[in-house]
Amino acid sequence: MNKIIIAVDGFSSSGKSTMARRLAAAIGYRYIDSGAMYRAVTLYAMRHGMTDAAAGTVDTSALNAALPGISIDFAPGAEGQHTLLNGEDVETEIRSLEVSNMVSPVAAIPEVRHALTTMQRELGKSRGVVMDGRDIGTTVFPDAELKVFVNASAETRARRRYLELTGKGQAVEYDDVLANVVQRDKIDTTRAESPLRQAPDAVLLDNGNMTLEEQDARILSLFNDTIERLK
Ligand code: DC
Repeated sequence: MNKIIIAVDGFSSSGKSTMARRLAAAIGYRYIDSGAMYRAVTLYAMRHGMTDAAAGTVDTSALNAALPGISIDFAPGAEGQHTLLNGEDVETEIRSLEVSNMVSPVAAIPEVRHALTTMQRELGKSRGVVMDGRDIGTTVFPDAELKVFVNASAETRARRRYLELTGKGQAVEYDDVLANVVQRDKIDTTRAESPLRQAPDAVLLDNGNMTLEEQDARILSLFNDTIERLK
């Protein structure tokens, strides 16, 4: 049976990464977290003094000039995949609130999107991948055989992100996390370059009231239906 591409798009903290990772493990596909790639580029820009956190701005020309020297890879780690930035494991750092606050302006830069889209297409060229992000079904793999668009309310998503961050020992306030979620939704949906939107042929999945098991069952059945349809 030929392997397919599964695009899982949705709002931040919608649980799409968990869904995509668990599906990939269940069906023996490779999982690729495209958001981690935007986060890694953001961390690079922050470390090289190309961002102004207070103003929420990026030195676009400096970052564009640096893009050819940025390599991003994934390596297997203890709890899943780890993101490597120029060979360094940055998995923990890219999840910080500082990076979360700067990632949307970085992800709005057309040259950054083009560079990462090229890398993502390369990673998926043999198919057999589950890739999650914002524009996987619309821009990166418009020909993906299965597209899922995940959503839940901003409050539900902020609560999940708050529990995740505090669980990792980060000192954050719920209100700040909610503000970050709302702000990112706004930037992600209104940017000029491949804004976050549901592909016309994507299946909408609101997981606000779903348990993890229900979610696993739903996406696995969508996968099985797709394979059946393609036979
Ligand atoms: O999924 P995440 O929260 O880790 O994504 C981080 C940011 O990267 C998010 O604010 C939007 C951006 N992003 C994007 O623009 N396109 C993607 N395919 C994936 C993420």
